[in-house]
Amino acid sequence: MTHKAWWKESVVYQIYPRSFNDSNGDGIGDIKGITEKLDYLKNLGIEVIWLSPVYKSPNDDNGYDIADYKAIMDEFGTMEDWEELLEEMHNRDLKLIMDLVVNHSSDEHEWFQESRKSKDNPFRDYYIWRTSKDGKEPNNWESAFSGPAWDYDEQTDEYYLHLFSKKQPDLNWENPKLRQEIYDMMKWWLNKGVDGFRMDVINFISKVPGLPDAPNPEGKKYVGGGQYFMNGPRIHDYLKEMNDEVLSKYDIMTVGEMPGVDVEEAKKYTDPDRKELQMVFQFEHMDLDSGPNGKWDLKPLDLKDLKQSITRWQKGLQGIGWNSLYLNNHDQPRIVSRFGNDKEYRLESAKMLGTFLHMLQGTPFIYQGEEIGMTNIHFDSIDDYKDIEILNMYQEKVVEGNEDPDKVMESIYVKGRDNARTPIQWDTSENAGFTTGEPWIKVNPNYKEINAEQAINDENSVYHYYRQLIQLRKKHEIIVYGEYDLILESHDQIYAYTRTFEGEKVLVVTNFSEQEVPFELPTGVSFEAKELLISNYPNEGIQDYHSFTLKPYEARVYKGV
Ligand code: NOJ
Repeated sequence: MTHKAWWKESVVYQIYPRSFNDSNGDGIGDIKGITEKLDYLKNLGIEVIWLSPVYKSPNDDNGYDIADYKAIMDEFGTMEDWEELLEEMHNRDLKLIMDLVVNHSSDEHEWFQESRKSKDNPFRDYYIWRTSKDGKEPNNWESAFSGPAWDYDEQTDEYYLHLFSKKQPDLNWENPKLRQEIYDMMKWWLNKGVDGFRMDVINFISKVPGLPDAPNPEGKKYVGGGQYFMNGPRIHDYLKEMNDEVLSKYDIMTVGEMPGVDVEEAKKYTDPDRKELQMVFQFEHMDLDSGPNGKWDLKPLDLKDLKQSITRWQKGLQGIGWNSLYLNNHDQPRIVSRFGNDKEYRLESAKMLGTFLHMLQGTPFIYQGEEIGMTNIHFDSIDDYKDIEILNMYQEKVVEGNEDPDKVMESIYVKGRDNARTPIQWDTSENAGFTTGEPWIKVNPNYKEINAEQAINDENSVYHYYRQLIQLRKKHEIIVYGEYDLILESHDQIYAYTRTFEGEKVLVVTNFSEQEVPFELPTGVSFEAKELLISNYPNEGIQDYHSFTLKPYEARVYKGV
Protein backbone atom coordinates (compact mmCIF):
# COMPACT_ATOMS: atom_id res chain seq x y z
CA MET A 1 0.00 0.00 0.00
CA THR A 2 1.49 3.34 -1.05
CA HIS A 3 1.00 6.13 1.44
CA LYS A 4 0.38 9.61 0.13
CA ALA A 5 2.84 12.38 0.91
CA TRP A 6 3.62 15.90 -0.32
CA TRP A 7 7.14 14.93 -1.32
CA LYS A 8 5.73 12.26 -3.62
CA GLU A 9 3.40 14.74 -5.28
CA SER A 10 5.96 17.50 -5.85
CA VAL A 11 8.22 18.29 -8.77
CA VAL A 12 11.73 19.36 -7.79
CA TYR A 13 13.96 21.81 -9.67
CA GLN A 14 17.72 21.64 -9.14
CA ILE A 15 19.78 24.82 -9.10
CA TYR A 16 23.54 24.74 -9.60
CA PRO A 17 24.08 28.25 -8.27
CA ARG A 18 27.37 29.01 -9.95
CA SER A 19 25.73 28.75 -13.38
CA PHE A 20 22.21 29.96 -12.67
CA ASN A 21 22.05 33.76 -12.55
CA ASP A 22 24.63 36.38 -11.61
CA SER A 23 23.19 39.46 -9.89
CA ASN A 24 26.40 41.44 -9.28
CA GLY A 25 28.39 41.13 -12.48
CA ASP A 26 31.32 39.10 -11.13
CA GLY A 27 30.66 36.32 -13.65
CA ILE A 28 29.49 33.84 -11.00
CA GLY A 29 25.88 32.99 -10.27
CA ASP A 30 24.75 33.92 -6.77
CA ILE A 31 21.93 33.72 -4.25
CA LYS A 32 20.37 37.08 -5.08
CA GLY A 33 20.39 35.92 -8.68
CA ILE A 34 18.23 32.96 -7.65
CA THR A 35 15.81 35.16 -5.71
CA GLU A 36 15.40 37.32 -8.83
CA LYS A 37 14.21 34.27 -10.76
CA LEU A 38 11.74 32.80 -8.28
CA ASP A 39 8.73 33.97 -10.25
CA TYR A 40 10.11 32.25 -13.33
CA LEU A 41 10.34 29.01 -11.34
CA LYS A 42 6.94 29.45 -9.73
CA ASN A 43 5.43 29.94 -13.19
CA LEU A 44 7.02 26.73 -14.35
CA GLY A 45 4.97 25.04 -11.64
CA ILE A 46 7.65 23.32 -9.57
CA GLU A 47 7.15 23.08 -5.79
CA VAL A 48 10.62 22.34 -4.44
CA ILE A 49 14.11 23.64 -5.18
CA TRP A 50 17.19 21.54 -4.51
CA LEU A 51 20.08 23.92 -4.15
CA SER A 52 23.54 22.53 -4.88
CA PRO A 53 26.08 23.61 -2.22
CA VAL A 54 26.26 27.30 -1.34
CA TYR A 55 28.49 26.86 1.71
CA LYS A 56 31.91 28.38 2.26
CA SER A 57 34.32 26.55 0.00
CA PRO A 58 37.63 26.94 -1.81
CA ASN A 59 35.83 25.52 -4.87
CA ASP A 60 38.15 22.71 -5.75
CA ASP A 61 34.97 20.84 -6.75
CA ASN A 62 32.59 23.81 -7.07
CA GLY A 63 31.28 23.79 -3.54
CA TYR A 64 31.24 20.02 -2.98
CA ASP A 65 34.31 20.70 -0.84
CA ILE A 66 32.94 22.52 2.20
CA ALA A 67 35.14 24.57 4.50
CA ASP A 68 32.36 25.72 6.82
CA TYR A 69 28.97 24.01 6.96
CA LYS A 70 27.31 27.00 8.58
CA ALA A 71 28.57 29.82 6.36
CA ILE A 72 27.73 30.99 2.84
CA MET A 73 30.38 31.14 0.12
CA ASP A 74 31.49 34.77 -0.42
CA GLU A 75 31.01 34.54 -4.16
CA PHE A 76 27.38 33.56 -3.63
CA GLY A 77 26.53 36.29 -1.12
CA THR A 78 25.76 36.40 2.60
CA MET A 79 23.66 34.53 5.13
CA GLU A 80 21.18 37.42 4.93
CA ASP A 81 20.86 36.81 1.19
CA TRP A 82 20.19 33.14 1.88
CA GLU A 83 17.59 33.98 4.53
CA GLU A 84 15.90 36.33 2.12
CA LEU A 85 15.87 33.59 -0.52
CA LEU A 86 14.22 31.16 1.89
CA GLU A 87 11.65 33.72 2.96
CA GLU A 88 10.81 34.67 -0.62
CA MET A 89 10.50 31.00 -1.47
CA HIS A 90 8.21 30.25 1.44
CA ASN A 91 6.11 33.33 0.55
CA ARG A 92 5.53 31.66 -2.79
CA ASP A 93 4.88 28.20 -1.30
CA LEU A 94 8.14 26.87 -2.62
CA LYS A 95 10.18 24.49 -0.49
CA LEU A 96 13.98 24.45 -0.25
CA ILE A 97 16.12 21.36 0.08
CA MET A 98 19.82 21.88 0.75
CA ASP A 99 22.74 19.77 -0.42
CA LEU A 100 24.31 17.89 2.45
CA VAL A 101 27.91 16.92 1.68
CA VAL A 102 29.13 14.88 4.62
CA ASN A 103 31.08 11.99 3.17
CA HIS A 104 33.95 14.49 3.03
CA SER A 105 34.73 18.09 3.83
CA SER A 106 37.25 20.49 2.37
CA ASP A 107 40.85 20.16 3.55
CA GLU A 108 40.39 23.83 4.51
CA HIS A 109 37.70 22.96 7.06
CA GLU A 110 38.97 23.71 10.55
CA TRP A 111 38.33 20.09 11.58
CA PHE A 112 40.88 18.97 9.00
CA GLN A 113 43.27 21.79 9.80
CA GLU A 114 43.26 20.53 13.38
CA SER A 115 43.22 16.86 12.45
CA ARG A 116 46.41 17.05 10.43
CA LYS A 117 48.37 18.81 13.20
CA SER A 118 49.20 15.75 15.30
CA LYS A 119 48.21 12.16 15.92
CA ASP A 120 46.77 13.04 19.32
CA ASN A 121 44.82 16.09 18.22
CA PRO A 122 41.16 15.81 19.38
CA PHE A 123 40.08 16.09 15.72
CA ARG A 124 42.48 13.42 14.46
CA ASP A 125 39.71 10.81 14.29
CA TYR A 126 37.36 13.07 12.37
CA TYR A 127 39.18 11.82 9.25
CA ILE A 128 40.67 8.56 8.05
CA TRP A 129 44.43 8.40 8.58
CA ARG A 130 46.68 5.40 7.90
CA THR A 131 50.38 4.69 7.75
CA SER A 132 51.98 3.75 4.47
CA LYS A 133 52.10 0.15 3.30
CA ASP A 134 55.38 -1.04 1.77
CA GLY A 135 56.44 2.54 1.17
CA LYS A 136 53.25 3.21 -0.79
CA GLU A 137 49.69 4.31 -0.16
CA PRO A 138 47.81 2.32 2.54
CA ASN A 139 45.77 0.58 -0.18
CA ASN A 140 45.28 0.57 -3.95
CA TRP A 141 42.00 2.50 -4.16
CA GLU A 142 41.64 5.10 -6.88
CA SER A 143 40.06 8.51 -6.42
CA ALA A 144 36.93 9.28 -8.48
CA PHE A 145 38.94 12.17 -9.90
CA SER A 146 41.95 10.03 -11.03
CA GLY A 147 45.10 9.06 -9.14
CA PRO A 148 45.32 7.46 -5.70
CA ALA A 149 42.58 7.90 -3.08
CA TRP A 150 45.28 8.78 -0.54
CA ASP A 151 47.46 11.78 0.05
CA TYR A 152 50.61 11.82 2.14
CA ASP A 153 50.88 14.42 4.89
CA GLU A 154 54.40 15.10 6.06
CA GLN A 155 53.47 16.64 9.38
CA THR A 156 52.46 13.31 10.90
CA ASP A 157 53.96 10.96 8.32
CA GLU A 158 50.58 9.41 7.48
CA TYR A 159 48.15 9.32 4.59
CA TYR A 160 44.53 10.49 4.64
CA LEU A 161 41.77 8.98 2.53
CA HIS A 162 40.00 11.07 -0.13
CA LEU A 163 37.60 9.23 -2.44
CA PHE A 164 37.32 12.47 -4.46
CA SER A 165 39.99 15.19 -4.84
CA LYS A 166 42.84 15.51 -2.38
CA LYS A 167 41.14 18.66 -1.15
CA GLN A 168 38.11 16.54 -0.16
CA PRO A 169 39.28 14.35 2.76
CA ASP A 170 36.75 11.67 3.80
CA LEU A 171 35.13 12.13 7.17
CA ASN A 172 35.35 9.25 9.63
CA TRP A 173 31.80 8.16 10.39
CA GLU A 174 33.08 5.48 12.77
CA ASN A 175 33.65 8.34 15.19
CA PRO A 176 30.44 9.04 17.20
CA LYS A 177 31.60 12.58 17.96
CA LEU A 178 31.83 13.37 14.26
CA ARG A 179 28.37 11.95 13.69
CA GLN A 180 26.96 14.12 16.46
CA GLU A 181 28.55 17.22 14.93
CA ILE A 182 26.88 16.41 11.62
CA TYR A 183 23.49 15.85 13.23
CA ASP A 184 23.76 19.13 15.14
CA MET A 185 24.64 20.95 11.96
CA MET A 186 21.65 19.39 10.16
CA LYS A 187 19.32 20.47 12.97
CA TRP A 188 20.77 23.97 12.79
CA TRP A 189 19.71 24.25 9.13
CA LEU A 190 16.36 22.60 9.72
CA ASN A 191 15.65 25.02 12.54
CA LYS A 192 16.37 27.82 10.09
CA GLY A 193 13.46 26.45 8.09
CA VAL A 194 14.91 24.29 5.31
CA ASP A 195 12.60 21.63 3.98
CA GLY A 196 14.98 18.75 3.52
CA PHE A 197 18.28 17.47 2.20
CA ARG A 198 19.80 15.92 -0.88
CA MET A 199 22.68 13.88 0.53
CA ASP A 200 25.85 13.72 -1.51
CA VAL A 201 27.29 10.18 -2.05
CA ILE A 202 25.70 9.25 1.26
CA ASN A 203 26.12 5.51 0.67
CA PHE A 204 29.93 6.00 0.81
CA ILE A 205 30.10 6.92 4.49
CA SER A 206 30.65 3.41 5.87
CA LYS A 207 33.93 1.85 4.78
CA VAL A 208 34.80 -1.82 5.23
CA PRO A 209 37.04 -2.04 8.32
CA GLY A 210 40.66 -2.67 7.47
CA LEU A 211 40.24 -0.83 4.15
CA PRO A 212 41.41 -3.84 2.12
CA ASP A 213 43.09 -3.64 -1.27
CA ALA A 214 40.67 -4.06 -4.16
CA PRO A 215 41.17 -7.04 -6.49
CA ASN A 216 43.45 -5.98 -9.31
CA PRO A 217 43.67 -8.68 -11.99
CA GLU A 218 45.06 -6.27 -14.58
CA GLY A 219 47.78 -5.04 -12.26
CA LYS A 220 46.71 -1.40 -12.47
CA LYS A 221 48.33 1.19 -10.29
CA TYR A 222 45.04 2.14 -8.64
CA VAL A 223 41.60 0.50 -8.83
CA GLY A 224 38.05 1.50 -7.94
CA GLY A 225 37.57 -0.07 -4.53
CA GLY A 226 33.84 0.73 -4.59
CA GLN A 227 32.90 -2.63 -3.09
CA TYR A 228 34.64 -1.53 0.12
CA PHE A 229 32.86 1.77 0.58
CA MET A 230 29.57 1.69 -1.35
CA ASN A 231 26.66 0.51 0.84
CA GLY A 232 29.22 -0.48 3.47
CA PRO A 233 28.65 -2.58 6.59
CA ARG A 234 27.32 0.14 8.92
CA ILE A 235 25.53 2.37 6.40
CA HIS A 236 22.03 1.40 7.51
CA ASP A 237 22.94 1.91 11.17
CA TYR A 238 24.20 5.40 10.44
CA LEU A 239 21.14 6.37 8.44
CA LYS A 240 18.79 4.96 11.08
CA GLU A 241 20.64 6.92 13.72
CA MET A 242 20.45 10.08 11.59
CA ASN A 243 16.76 9.47 11.06
CA ASP A 244 16.14 8.91 14.74
CA GLU A 245 18.12 11.92 15.90
CA VAL A 246 17.27 14.39 13.15
CA LEU A 247 15.08 13.51 10.18
CA SER A 248 12.13 12.02 12.05
CA LYS A 249 11.66 15.23 14.00
CA TYR A 250 10.78 17.30 10.91
CA ASP A 251 8.34 17.10 8.00
CA ILE A 252 10.96 17.14 5.26
CA MET A 253 12.10 15.62 1.96
CA THR A 254 15.18 13.39 1.92
CA VAL A 255 16.98 11.91 -1.05
CA GLY A 256 20.34 10.18 -0.90
CA GLU A 257 22.70 10.19 -3.86
CA MET A 258 23.93 6.60 -4.14
CA PRO A 259 26.29 5.46 -6.87
CA GLY A 260 26.37 1.67 -7.02
CA VAL A 261 22.99 1.11 -5.36
CA ASP A 262 20.77 -1.66 -6.72
CA VAL A 263 17.04 -2.17 -6.27
CA GLU A 264 17.36 -4.60 -3.39
CA GLU A 265 19.55 -2.22 -1.43
CA ALA A 266 17.32 0.73 -2.38
CA LYS A 267 14.32 -1.04 -0.85
CA LYS A 268 16.17 -1.02 2.44
CA TYR A 269 17.07 2.64 2.16
CA THR A 270 13.58 3.81 1.21
CA ASP A 271 11.12 1.45 2.96
CA PRO A 272 9.40 3.85 5.42
CA ASP A 273 9.13 1.10 8.02
CA ARG A 274 12.92 0.99 8.25
CA LYS A 275 13.14 4.72 9.00
CA GLU A 276 16.13 5.71 6.87
CA LEU A 277 15.55 7.91 3.78
CA GLN A 278 12.63 8.60 1.44
CA MET A 279 14.36 8.29 -1.93
CA VAL A 280 17.69 7.48 -3.50
CA PHE A 281 19.33 8.79 -6.65
CA GLN A 282 20.39 5.61 -8.41
CA PHE A 283 22.72 5.53 -11.42
CA GLU A 284 21.81 2.44 -13.40
CA HIS A 285 20.08 4.32 -16.21
CA MET A 286 22.93 6.82 -16.36
CA ASP A 287 25.49 4.05 -16.86
CA LEU A 288 23.80 2.33 -19.80
CA ASP A 289 25.79 4.27 -22.38
CA SER A 290 29.15 3.40 -20.81
CA GLY A 291 31.32 0.45 -21.76
CA PRO A 292 33.20 -1.85 -19.36
CA ASN A 293 35.90 0.75 -18.71
CA GLY A 294 33.59 3.26 -17.12
CA LYS A 295 32.08 6.57 -17.96
CA TRP A 296 34.59 7.73 -20.59
CA ASP A 297 34.24 4.45 -22.48
CA LEU A 298 31.48 5.49 -24.90
CA LYS A 299 28.73 3.14 -25.96
CA PRO A 300 25.40 3.89 -27.66
CA LEU A 301 22.25 3.42 -25.61
CA ASP A 302 20.27 0.26 -26.34
CA LEU A 303 16.65 1.16 -25.58
CA LYS A 304 15.97 -2.36 -24.33
CA ASP A 305 18.55 -1.83 -21.58
CA LEU A 306 16.78 1.34 -20.51
CA LYS A 307 13.44 -0.49 -20.39
CA GLN A 308 14.85 -3.33 -18.34
CA SER A 309 16.52 -1.03 -15.87
CA ILE A 310 13.67 1.45 -15.38
CA THR A 311 11.16 -1.40 -15.15
CA ARG A 312 13.21 -3.17 -12.50
CA TRP A 313 13.17 0.02 -10.40
CA GLN A 314 9.52 0.83 -11.02
CA LYS A 315 8.37 -2.69 -10.14
CA GLY A 316 10.96 -3.18 -7.41
CA LEU A 317 10.01 -0.17 -5.29
CA GLN A 318 6.25 -0.42 -6.01
CA GLY A 319 4.39 -0.40 -2.70
CA ILE A 320 7.65 -0.53 -0.70
CA GLY A 321 9.82 2.56 -1.25
CA TRP A 322 9.67 5.48 -3.66
CA ASN A 323 11.65 6.36 -6.80
CA SER A 324 13.36 9.60 -7.64
CA LEU A 325 13.13 10.33 -11.36
CA TYR A 326 15.87 12.18 -13.20
CA LEU A 327 17.63 12.36 -16.54
CA ASN A 328 19.84 15.37 -15.83
CA ASN A 329 21.83 16.95 -13.05
CA HIS A 330 25.07 18.90 -12.63
CA ASP A 331 27.14 15.72 -13.13
CA GLN A 332 25.43 14.42 -16.26
CA PRO A 333 25.46 15.52 -19.90
CA ARG A 334 22.33 17.23 -21.24
CA ILE A 335 19.72 14.57 -21.94
CA VAL A 336 18.52 16.03 -25.25
CA SER A 337 22.06 15.66 -26.57
CA ARG A 338 22.47 12.27 -24.95
CA PHE A 339 19.31 10.21 -25.56
CA GLY A 340 17.65 12.61 -28.00
CA ASN A 341 18.70 14.63 -31.04
CA ASP A 342 19.80 18.18 -30.24
CA LYS A 343 19.80 19.25 -33.91
CA GLU A 344 16.77 18.72 -36.17
CA TYR A 345 14.60 17.16 -33.45
CA ARG A 346 15.65 19.18 -30.41
CA LEU A 347 12.14 20.26 -29.47
CA GLU A 348 10.51 16.92 -30.22
CA SER A 349 13.10 14.80 -28.45
CA ALA A 350 13.41 17.07 -25.39
CA LYS A 351 9.62 16.90 -24.98
CA MET A 352 9.52 13.16 -25.57
CA LEU A 353 12.19 12.54 -22.92
CA GLY A 354 10.32 14.79 -20.49
CA THR A 355 7.12 12.84 -21.15
CA PHE A 356 8.84 9.51 -20.66
CA LEU A 357 10.23 10.62 -17.29
CA HIS A 358 7.34 12.63 -15.87
CA MET A 359 4.78 9.90 -16.49
CA LEU A 360 6.72 7.37 -14.39
CA GLN A 361 6.01 6.63 -10.74
CA GLY A 362 8.25 8.68 -8.47
CA THR A 363 9.25 12.26 -7.73
CA PRO A 364 10.60 14.04 -10.83
CA PHE A 365 13.69 16.24 -10.66
CA ILE A 366 14.27 18.86 -13.36
CA TYR A 367 17.77 20.25 -13.73
CA GLN A 368 18.19 23.93 -14.58
CA GLY A 369 18.06 24.52 -18.32
CA GLU A 370 16.41 21.17 -19.03
CA GLU A 371 13.06 22.97 -19.16
CA ILE A 372 14.25 25.04 -22.13
CA GLY A 373 15.99 22.15 -23.86
CA MET A 374 19.58 23.28 -23.29
CA THR A 375 22.23 21.19 -25.05
CA ASN A 376 25.76 19.91 -24.50
CA ILE A 377 28.77 22.18 -25.00
CA HIS A 378 31.69 21.66 -27.37
CA PHE A 379 34.78 23.71 -26.48
CA ASP A 380 37.64 23.23 -28.94
CA SER A 381 40.31 23.67 -26.30
CA ILE A 382 40.71 21.77 -23.05
CA ASP A 383 41.65 25.15 -21.51
CA ASP A 384 38.01 26.24 -21.63
CA TYR A 385 36.92 23.35 -19.40
CA LYS A 386 36.72 23.95 -15.63
CA ASP A 387 35.63 20.68 -14.05
CA ILE A 388 38.23 18.93 -11.87
CA GLU A 389 37.05 15.51 -13.04
CA ILE A 390 37.60 16.43 -16.70
CA LEU A 391 40.90 18.19 -16.12
CA ASN A 392 42.42 15.44 -13.97
CA MET A 393 41.31 12.77 -16.42
CA TYR A 394 42.79 14.71 -19.37
CA GLN A 395 46.04 15.19 -17.48
CA GLU A 396 46.26 11.48 -16.67
CA LYS A 397 45.29 10.17 -20.10
CA VAL A 398 46.75 12.72 -22.50
CA VAL A 399 49.53 14.60 -20.73
CA GLU A 400 50.93 11.68 -18.74
CA GLY A 401 49.46 8.72 -20.62
CA ASN A 402 50.00 9.76 -24.25
CA GLU A 403 46.48 8.82 -25.28
CA ASP A 404 45.03 10.36 -28.43
CA PRO A 405 43.81 13.84 -27.40
CA ASP A 406 41.07 13.84 -30.05
CA LYS A 407 39.61 10.65 -28.68
CA VAL A 408 39.72 11.95 -25.14
CA MET A 409 38.12 15.24 -26.19
CA GLU A 410 35.38 13.25 -27.90
CA SER A 411 34.57 11.50 -24.63
CA ILE A 412 34.52 14.89 -22.86
CA TYR A 413 32.06 16.22 -25.45
CA VAL A 414 29.76 13.30 -24.79
CA LYS A 415 30.14 12.77 -21.04
CA GLY A 416 31.92 15.71 -19.40
CA ARG A 417 30.19 17.34 -16.44
CA ASP A 418 30.73 20.84 -17.85
CA ASN A 419 28.03 19.99 -20.41
CA ALA A 420 25.57 20.67 -17.61
CA ARG A 421 27.43 23.61 -16.12
CA THR A 422 27.45 26.27 -18.83
CA PRO A 423 25.43 29.32 -17.76
CA ILE A 424 21.66 29.31 -18.03
CA GLN A 425 20.59 31.00 -21.21
CA TRP A 426 18.10 33.64 -20.15
CA ASP A 427 17.84 35.83 -23.26
CA THR A 428 19.64 37.00 -26.41
CA SER A 429 21.68 39.73 -24.72
CA GLU A 430 25.42 39.36 -24.22
CA ASN A 431 26.39 36.26 -22.22
CA ALA A 432 22.80 35.08 -22.57
CA GLY A 433 21.74 37.50 -19.83
CA PHE A 434 23.53 35.34 -17.24
CA THR A 435 26.04 38.02 -16.26
CA THR A 436 27.14 41.51 -17.20
CA GLY A 437 30.72 40.44 -16.46
CA GLU A 438 32.98 37.69 -17.74
CA PRO A 439 31.28 34.33 -17.09
CA TRP A 440 33.35 31.83 -15.07
CA ILE A 441 32.75 29.29 -17.82
CA LYS A 442 31.83 30.19 -21.39
CA VAL A 443 28.22 30.44 -22.46
CA ASN A 444 26.98 27.96 -25.06
CA PRO A 445 27.04 29.89 -28.37
CA ASN A 446 23.56 28.61 -29.25
CA TYR A 447 21.96 30.98 -26.72
CA LYS A 448 20.51 33.25 -29.43
CA GLU A 449 18.13 30.42 -30.41
CA ILE A 450 17.85 28.57 -27.09
CA ASN A 451 16.97 30.82 -24.17
CA ALA A 452 14.26 31.26 -21.54
CA GLU A 453 12.84 34.48 -22.97
CA GLN A 454 12.28 32.86 -26.35
CA ALA A 455 10.80 29.78 -24.67
CA ILE A 456 8.34 31.77 -22.58
CA ASN A 457 7.13 33.63 -25.67
CA ASP A 458 6.77 30.52 -27.79
CA GLU A 459 3.73 28.32 -27.06
CA ASN A 460 5.47 25.44 -28.78
CA SER A 461 8.58 25.52 -26.57
CA VAL A 462 9.97 22.83 -24.30
CA TYR A 463 9.24 25.20 -21.41
CA HIS A 464 5.49 25.30 -22.05
CA TYR A 465 5.46 21.56 -22.55
CA TYR A 466 7.19 21.02 -19.19
CA ARG A 467 4.62 23.31 -17.57
CA GLN A 468 1.91 21.05 -18.94
CA LEU A 469 3.66 17.91 -17.70
CA ILE A 470 3.86 19.40 -14.22
CA GLN A 471 0.20 20.47 -14.28
CA LEU A 472 -0.92 17.00 -15.36
CA ARG A 473 0.78 15.49 -12.32
CA LYS A 474 -1.07 17.89 -10.06
CA LYS A 475 -4.39 17.16 -11.72
CA HIS A 476 -4.26 13.37 -12.07
CA GLU A 477 -3.35 11.34 -9.01
CA ILE A 478 -2.77 8.34 -11.23
CA ILE A 479 0.37 10.03 -12.58
CA VAL A 480 1.80 10.19 -9.08
CA TYR A 481 0.57 6.94 -7.60
CA GLY A 482 -0.42 4.62 -10.46
CA GLU A 483 1.29 1.26 -10.75
CA TYR A 484 3.63 0.91 -13.70
CA ASP A 485 3.64 -1.88 -16.31
CA LEU A 486 5.90 -2.12 -19.33
CA ILE A 487 4.45 -3.08 -22.71
CA LEU A 488 6.28 -3.91 -25.97
CA GLU A 489 9.21 -5.14 -23.93
CA SER A 490 11.51 -5.95 -26.83
CA HIS A 491 10.69 -3.14 -29.24
CA ASP A 492 13.88 -1.35 -30.35
CA GLN A 493 12.44 2.14 -30.79
CA ILE A 494 9.24 2.48 -28.80
CA TYR A 495 9.16 2.74 -25.03
CA ALA A 496 5.54 2.27 -23.93
CA TYR A 497 4.00 1.62 -20.54
CA THR A 498 0.76 1.84 -18.63
CA ARG A 499 -0.10 3.20 -15.21
CA THR A 500 -3.03 1.82 -13.21
CA PHE A 501 -4.76 3.40 -10.23
CA GLU A 502 -8.22 3.05 -8.68
CA GLY A 503 -9.93 1.70 -11.79
CA GLU A 504 -8.23 4.14 -14.18
CA LYS A 505 -5.39 3.67 -16.64
CA VAL A 506 -2.85 5.82 -18.45
CA LEU A 507 -1.06 4.72 -21.60
CA VAL A 508 2.30 6.32 -22.39
CA VAL A 509 3.83 5.78 -25.83
CA THR A 510 7.20 7.32 -26.75
CA ASN A 511 9.37 6.97 -29.82
CA PHE A 512 13.07 7.11 -28.95
CA SER A 513 14.13 7.20 -32.61
CA GLU A 514 14.12 9.62 -35.52
CA GLN A 515 12.26 7.16 -37.72
CA GLU A 516 8.52 6.88 -38.22
CA VAL A 517 7.46 3.78 -36.31
CA PRO A 518 4.12 1.96 -36.31
CA PHE A 519 2.55 1.35 -32.89
CA GLU A 520 -0.01 -1.37 -32.18
CA LEU A 521 -1.51 -1.72 -28.73
CA PRO A 522 -0.85 -5.38 -27.86
CA THR A 523 -4.06 -7.40 -27.70
CA GLY A 524 -3.24 -8.58 -24.19
CA VAL A 525 -3.37 -5.01 -22.84
CA SER A 526 -6.85 -3.97 -21.83
CA PHE A 527 -7.21 -0.25 -22.31
CA GLU A 528 -9.95 2.02 -23.53
CA ALA A 529 -8.88 5.62 -24.09
CA LYS A 530 -11.13 8.46 -22.97
CA GLU A 531 -8.82 11.41 -23.57
CA LEU A 532 -5.43 12.41 -24.91
CA LEU A 533 -3.62 14.05 -22.00
CA ILE A 534 -0.60 15.38 -23.86
CA SER A 535 1.38 14.95 -27.05
CA ASN A 536 4.43 16.65 -28.53
CA TYR A 537 2.88 16.76 -32.02
CA PRO A 538 -0.39 18.47 -32.92
CA ASN A 539 -2.58 15.42 -32.24
CA GLU A 540 -6.12 15.70 -31.08
CA GLY A 541 -8.71 13.24 -29.80
CA ILE A 542 -8.47 9.52 -29.30
CA GLN A 543 -9.57 8.09 -32.67
CA ASP A 544 -6.53 5.97 -33.45
CA TYR A 545 -4.99 5.15 -30.06
CA HIS A 546 -4.98 1.39 -30.81
CA SER A 547 -2.85 1.70 -33.87
CA PHE A 548 -0.96 4.63 -35.29
CA THR A 549 2.37 5.69 -36.75
CA LEU A 550 4.64 7.58 -34.39
CA LYS A 551 6.54 10.48 -35.92
CA PRO A 552 10.20 11.01 -34.99
CA TYR A 553 10.50 11.27 -31.21
CA GLU A 554 6.75 11.44 -30.87
CA ALA A 555 5.17 11.03 -27.44
CA ARG A 556 1.50 10.52 -26.58
CA VAL A 557 -0.22 10.00 -23.26
CA TYR A 558 -3.80 8.72 -23.13
CA LYS A 559 -6.00 8.40 -20.10
CA GLY A 560 -8.86 5.94 -19.91
CA VAL A 561 -9.93 2.70 -18.27
C1 NOJ B 1 28.54 13.91 -6.16
C2 NOJ B 1 28.28 15.30 -6.63
O1 NOJ B 1 27.06 15.34 -7.32
C3 NOJ B 1 29.46 15.69 -7.48
O2 NOJ B 1 29.24 16.90 -8.18
C4 NOJ B 1 30.66 15.77 -6.59
O3 NOJ B 1 31.81 16.01 -7.38
C5 NOJ B 1 30.87 14.47 -5.81
N1 NOJ B 1 29.66 13.92 -5.29
C6 NOJ B 1 31.79 14.71 -4.65
O4 NOJ B 1 31.16 15.51 -3.70
